This record gives sequence, structure tokens and C-alpha cells, in this order.
Amino acid sequence: MTVKLIGFVLCITVISEISGRSLPSYIKPCKRDDPNINECLMNLLENIRPYISKGIPEMHILPLDPVLVPSVTLKQDSAGSVNFVALFTDLKGYGAKNFQMQTIKANFKNQSLEIDLNLPFFRIESRYEVNGKILILPIKGNGKFVGNVTNAEAKIKFDLIIVKKKNNKNFIEIKPKKITLELGAVKLHFSNLFNGNKQLGDQTNRFINDNWKDLMKEIRPLLEDTVVTIVMGILKPVFETFSMDDLFPV
Ligand SMILES: *[C@@H]1O[C@H](CO)[C@@H](O)[C@H](O)[C@H]1NC(C)=O
Ligand SMILES: *[C@@H]1O[C@H](CO)[C@@H](O)[C@H](O)[C@H]1NC(C)=O
Repeated sequence: MTVKLIGFVLCITVISEISGRSLPSYIKPCKRDDPNINECLMNLLENIRPYISKGIPEMHILPLDPVLVPSVTLKQDSAGSVNFVALFTDLKGYGAKNFQMQTIKANFKNQSLEIDLNLPFFRIESRYEVNGKILILPIKGNGKFVGNVTNAEAKIKFDLIIVKKKNNKNFIEIKPKKITLELGAVKLHFSNLFNGNKQLGDQTNRFINDNWKDLMKEIRPLLEDTVVTIVMGILKPVFETFSMDDLFPV
């Protein structure tokens, strides 16, 4: 089976190569060699939570709640039971501001970062266009989509690679290495399936919701890639804008 994320566009501000930019004054960075760096990072995130949800333009962090994503294309070709193309456009995700950081493990010596993040509730609203087959049923239509996800937990490991860049400054390149995603409960609704045929539409929505765990098994890699792409859209600009000395002073 091949599972592919064929298109994903994130609206990321173009990074201007401004040197000498400093962190907003309300951010007290953690020291690189702080023996309690993980605890320090947890506190730092807690302190800047209100700023993160509204966005921090000085750090190229776009608003997180709602998080806006222009489009996501999910395409699954397989000889198996799930076979569809779904295009979601104009996505708005609500609830990210209530994220709970369960664990942060940062280690510059072995160049690793691990985060374990829980979202108690997340709602996605978008337009959709879908055509294909899910398990035993055909699915086709376009209209409004709503997805409610309870207790999403993502564990992500990153490599932190230190590279010397402009002005001889060290920057951290952050690269995703591994993700595992678990969803507690999922409730989806596609409006206007089959040109608004209510009976077929209701039946398909009910079927998807009754069988979301099986569906999830099939499209897990796709969802994991999507989560990584969104998380990287948030983290990468920060690490590209600020040097290691700015973010983690000695
Ligand atoms: C990095 O080091 C920490 C603690 O020293 C350890 O817990 C972690 O497993 C290490 N990670 C890797 C990828 O070696
Ligand atoms: C999603 O949650 C909202 C409340 O946050 C609710 O109004 C809506 O009906 C839910 N939709 C589905 C498909 O469960």
C-alpha cells in the first residue's frame, strides 16, 4: 500500500535575513547548560502560551488558535480497502492554545529534542472535495467539513543539528525524526455528500464515525506527516531567525 501526502501548503511568512534581531522582552530564554533545561522550557512555554495563541510576529510565529492552513490534499492509492483523494481547503483549527506539554527532553550534546504534546480538544473546519472508497463504501462530494478530535497525543523526536551560518553564528537546524500520533476520539461530518442526497450522506457519515479506528489505521502515516508539517511550520522559522546564542544562551 502506498500512502502519500501529495500536496501541503502552509502559509509561512518569508524569512527576512535580519541579523541583530532580538527576542521579544517577555521571553526569558533558557540557558544551554541549565541542568534543569527541560523544566525551564516547560515554564517558558507556559509563560508565553497567550502570545503563542495570538501569534508572535517578531519570531515569525503565526497565530496558533485558530491555526489557518490553506490546503491539505490526502491521496491514498491502494489495492486495499481505502482508496480516495480528498482535498481540504481553507482549514481552520481551533483549540491548539490549550495544548498540554507532557514532556520536553532537550539535549544539545546528543543533538536531540523530544516532545510529548497533548491536545484535549481540537476542532477543524474546512471545505472539502472527496472521491473514492472508504472500507466498503464509496464516498463522493464537496461541501463543508467539520472534525472534532478529543485527546490527541503526539510524541515527536527531532534532531538538532548545529550549523555555522552568516556572521559566523551557530544556528540550530531542527529536523523531525519520528512521530507517533494517538487520537482518543474522533467525530467527523461531511455536509452535502452525494450532491446533498440525505440518506446516502447520513449513512456515509455514520459509517465513517462508527469505523474511524479502522480508517485511522489506514491513514495514520498521512495524518502523522500532516502533524509534522504543521509543527515544523511553527518551529522552523524560529530556529532560522534566531541564532543558538539568542535561543539558548551560554
Ligand atoms: C540523549 O540524551 C538523553 C539524556 O542524556 C537521553 O535520555 C536520550 O535518550 C538521548 N537521546 C538519544 C537519541 O541518544
Ligand atoms: C464538534 O464540536 C462542536 C462543539 O465544539 C459541536 O458544536 C459540533 O456539533 C461537533 N461536531 C461534530 C461533527 O461532532
